[in-house]
Amino acid sequence: MDNKHIVEIRNLVKHFPMGGDHFLALKGISLDFAVGEFTGLVGPSGSGKTTLLNIVGGLDSPSEGQVTVLGHNLAGTSHKQRAELRRLHMGFIFQTYNLLPVYTVYENVEFPLLLNGVPADERKRLVTRAIELVGLSDKLGSRPAQLSGGEGQRVAIARAIVKEPTLVLADEPTANLDAENSHHVMKILVSLNKELSTSFIFATHDEKVMAYLHRILNLVDGKIVKDELVENPELKG
Ligand SMILES: Nc1ncnc2c1ncn2[C@@H]1O[C@H](COP(=O)(O)OP(=O)(O)OP(=O)(O)O)[C@@H](O)[C@H]1O
Ligand SMILES: [Mg+2]
Repeated sequence: MDNKHIVEIRNLVKHFPMGGDHFLALKGISLDFAVGEFTGLVGPSGSGKTTLLNIVGGLDSPSEGQVTVLGHNLAGTSHKQRAELRRLHMGFIFQTYNLLPVYTVYENVEFPLLLNGVPADERKRLVTRAIELVGLSDKLGSRPAQLSGGEGQRVAIARAIVKEPTLVLADEPTANLDAENSHHVMKILVSLNKELSTSFIFATHDEKVMAYLHRILNLVDGKIVKDELVENPELKG
């Protein structure tokens, strides 16, 4: 890996089987993401945003082409190695947030730290801080079914950032949030990006998310049609 790049993608093609044929979801994508980037994939529904994030996260595999994440060519990694790469270095915010229903808010956020063997004192500090950041300190003992959609999404965000990952993949992270909470959450993510150089790749339709991005990639029909650096007023002052 060029050590300035956290992700390198070359000639990525993804097709899904469909009937006897296949559906071409990504049509030859080449891209680099720099360390510390705060980038968004935007584009119409069905253009391939989630597919691309899933492949970068090692949750789905390319049909053709090469994807290198944190210096690992994913094609040369085992299922176990990809899981380890995620466990140690990546945070995910999914379109559906996949909280564990029998666990409380606190336990859901603590879960990634337990997997990583983080000692109890440190766990307590990190979990308390992450939950405080998303404004849910009064819901520590609630279970996901007792939360509103937006609160559930904020728990998912706390869980994604609690271990201070190198790379966060965020699929529509503000889909269930009102305007105020969307801005609040984006400001938290911006501060992580600044303080810890955490890299973020978003998939979004939300103008409120776009207002914070450094770079916007426009995906249409499985192809990148525009790749632009943006100067965002939200990031100043
Ligand atoms: N497992 C699958 N099997 C077959 N087709 C799939 C599969 N996953 C995605 N697709 C198709 O690939 C295309 C891209 O889907 P994707 O979920 O990446 O879109 P998206 O840009 O994230 O859309 P949205 O904005 O609605 O979330 C869609 O046409 C979708 O139907
Ligand atoms: Mg999607």
